[in-house]
Amino acid sequence: MAQKIVAGNWKMNLQFDEGEKLVNEILEGKRSNSVSVMIFPPALYVQHFSELGDGRISIGVQNFHVHESGAYTGEIAIPQIKSAGGSIGLIGHSERRGLFSETNADLKAKVDAAIANDFKFIFCCGEPLEIREAGREFSYVKSQLEESLFHLTASQMAGKILAYEPVWAIGTGKTATSAQAEQMHAEIRSWITDNYSDEVANSVSILYGGSCNEKNAREIFACPNVDGGLIGGASLNSESFLEIINAF
Ligand code: 13P
Repeated sequence: MAQKIVAGNWKMNLQFDEGEKLVNEILEGKRSNSVSVMIFPPALYVQHFSELGDGRISIGVQNFHVHESGAYTGEIAIPQIKSAGGSIGLIGHSERRGLFSETNADLKAKVDAAIANDFKFIFCCGEPLEIREAGREFSYVKSQLEESLFHLTASQMAGKILAYEPVWAIGTGKTATSAQAEQMHAEIRSWITDNYSDEVANSVSILYGGSCNEKNAREIFACPNVDGGLIGGASLNSESFLEIINAF
């Protein structure tokens, strides 16, 4: 069965002491152990927050470099992240794709670097507004997966985590309806079945992201193919994030 996950992507928000307070509140308020909680703070907070979390929540990075060391000023490598307690990374967030020009080929290289370093990741996909308006959202998202992820073997693909984040719903307050989310998630799972097997498809967690909050999480998480959420704005406040975690 796919793991149930609620992940908070803080993006470039919160000072260190604000983040520390938030992590402590999440640790105190988290009730269910059947949901895995992950937090993606700015990378320089990872070591301290991993120590605070002490295995009760996973602390990850929002980005990483494909090389393991070397002359890449300003970048961080997977072995460095692991050595500081970080256990997972985001790959292919739409802000990385859009603002930092990351291509499907770049993201394939990140997937391969993660696999080579035995590093967990959440692979993000999702279509911009103009693609949805043109009715091409399914072929667009399928290409993102085919060009960056579906080269993995079945054993590598098993248990992986994907996040469907329609770009038009990110930070806009305009969430996908639960029907739109379920439709895309069901398609994604069917492509995994086609490329691998039912068994692999059912082991993959597919999270929804895009204006998911404490008011709509329960309805979205009730969809059969939605295994949790990747939360931006609503993960910056312990009350809303805890309500989302407890929405399962
Ligand atoms: P919002 O929840 O702020 O729309 O952001 C979603 C997101 O980008 C999570 O990675």
